[in-house]
Amino acid sequence: MARTESFQLEEAAAEAYEAKFVPAMFAEWAQQVVTVAGVSPGQRILDVACGTGIVARTAAEIAGAGAVTGVDINPAMLAVAARVQPEISWLQGDASALPVQDGAFDVVLCQMALMFFPDAVAALREMCRAAVDGGTVAVVVPGRLEDQPGYGPFVELVSRHAGSGAMSLLGVYWACGDLEKLERLFAEAGLLEVRSHTHIGKAKYSSAADFVAVEVESTPLMERLTKDQFASIRTEAAAVLQPFSETDGSLTVPLQGHLVIGCKAKVRKP
Ligand SMILES: C[S@@+](CC[C@H](N)C(=O)[O-])C[C@H]1O[C@@H](n2cnc3c(N)ncnc32)[C@H](O)[C@@H]1O
Repeated sequence: MARTESFQLEEAAAEAYEAKFVPAMFAEWAQQVVTVAGVSPGQRILDVACGTGIVARTAAEIAGAGAVTGVDINPAMLAVAARVQPEISWLQGDASALPVQDGAFDVVLCQMALMFFPDAVAALREMCRAAVDGGTVAVVVPGRLEDQPGYGPFVELVSRHAGSGAMSLLGVYWACGDLEKLERLFAEAGLLEVRSHTHIGKAKYSSAADFVAVEVESTPLMERLTKDQFASIRTEAAAVLQPFSETDGSLTVPLQGHLVIGCKAKVRKP
């Protein structure tokens, strides 16, 4: 299936993404992928579709900022990334044609983005090309929508109020969530010793209204909802998300995701 959503944000939304969405959800996954991929001191790390750079920054805490490169197609995301951590190398580029040399990285990471690439196998092949022989490629994606007890009801709520533009975006989020298919994509891209971990993340928000605000204002959903649709979704969210509310009124929403790791073949010496 050709995908047509690429999660493009203007600068104000990119700032909101970094200020709100990253601490609520993405920072936890960045720790997971950096740990599972075994990022260590002395390694060179590439973060593909780096967004505002949380994975790159997390890897830099171990490998050093000078050893880390982030690539994203969106200059607004990269501008925020560079403001937050100017010592990492940030490059504009497409995941299907990464602007890096063959074999330049020990570990190539890609968090919450594979589902936005028109050709996921081609992007995985590019990640493999960027990795050194024997290097690691690790990807994080959300699981299937039917495996999301929090996001399932939220998507259903949005579908009651919003049109096809909003639903197209919310459909693509889960498009790489079938773990068997995902592992097959890795094998098709030539990656070896493919293994996976399924993790339930805990996205944290101050309230149901805050959850909706972050999900809308830090994503392309903002341009696809009218003010009235946004207000209705916000009003009804408290009831829909009630099972995830804590005693202090805050919200902890589970997000099931998959981390898949593969290895680039080592070239045999004659
Ligand atoms: C949901 S964000 C994830 C960002 C980051 N990895 C994180 O964990 O916060 C998806 C990112 O994928 C980027 N993206 C989408 N299509 C791309 C492509 N073809 N090549 C490079 N980046 C792409 C978007 O610009 C956006 O920054």
